[in-house]
Amino acid sequence: MFLVTGATGNVGSEVVSHLLQQGAPVRAFSRSGRPRTDSAEPFAGDLNAPSSVAAALDGVRGIFLLPGYQRLPETLARCAEAGVERVVLLSSSSIPGGERTNAVTRYMMESEEAVRASGLAWTFLRPCAFASNALQWKDQLAAGDVIRAPFPHVRQATLDPYDIGAVAALALTSPGHEGRAYALSGPEPLLPEERVRILGEVLGRKLVFAGQTDEEARAEMSAQMPAQYVAAFFRFYVDGTLDESPVRPAVEQLTGRPPRTFRTWATEHAGAFR
Ligand SMILES: NC(=O)c1ccc[n+]([C@@H]2O[C@H](COP(=O)([O-])OP(=O)(O)OC[C@H]3O[C@@H](n4cnc5c(N)ncnc54)[C@H](OP(=O)(O)O)[C@@H]3O)[C@@H](O)[C@H]2O)c1
Repeated sequence: MFLVTGATGNVGSEVVSHLLQQGAPVRAFSRSGRPRTDSAEPFAGDLNAPSSVAAALDGVRGIFLLPGYQRLPETLARCAEAGVERVVLLSSSSIPGGERTNAVTRYMMESEEAVRASGLAWTFLRPCAFASNALQWKDQLAAGDVIRAPFPHVRQATLDPYDIGAVAALALTSPGHEGRAYALSGPEPLLPEERVRILGEVLGRKLVFAGQTDEEARAEMSAQMPAQYVAAFFRFYVDGTLDESPVRPAVEQLTGRPPRTFRTWATEHAGAFR
């Protein structure tokens, strides 16, 4: 049995479906306890509560874990006590050379450190920005054809959560991934404007991209998230401390096929924008 946390989310749902395709039994953990498929065993629990995770561990050999939740060392100790053998942690491309003073990098580092200290066999997935971040444009698309977005000059080789799911399922079910940290990216570095154009082509709409100034982006982000995370994203994308443009070989090396394009992600998820 494999426990997938965040199982209703962009990444977790892909981990669930790849494990199920391999014929592996899956327990799908989230607060709602409502996975996107009936084939996984639903489990409602809170990642911030170690006892809640412990209650989901009966028969679990491997766990796919989201980063950044409270009391992670305790949660991992409960996993070890319950006989869990391995953990695949979703981490971040900001770790290598990252700054502990950056709030996003710090929670990722602390999550990796807790997993290393747990004594469980581990694999870290260090993805760059997800293709599914384009879902943030849903409301704007519903309102019209203009998409305003921050950091217009930042190229990212955005990664389809499908590929994270594929790699996570491999790392959970096959040997040889213990103690490895995989840098994951999509196949091509794209500007936000290019992703908007591709999405428009897929949807059959002529979308117009309007890059936000840094002042506009800061004001909008400050209304949505704590100041330390706004500062973290500005360090990444305005000060340039994070480069998510390099195309990484790991998805192809591990799965035997290239990572999916943004166009494929958009085509698969077009329904979410209609
Ligand atoms: N977006 C990026 O570009 C990026 C890049 C690198 C790393 N990451 C990391 O990837 C993570 C997952 O991304 P995603 O796009 O898959 O997120 P998502 O679609 O928002 O999904 C989050 C999942 O976690 C569950 N969840 C949230 N709080 C929980 C809690 N307290 N206890 C149990 N389950 C909880 C949610 O379900 P319920 O609401 O039902 O609980 C959902 O299943 C992010 O949180 C981030 O740390 C993201």
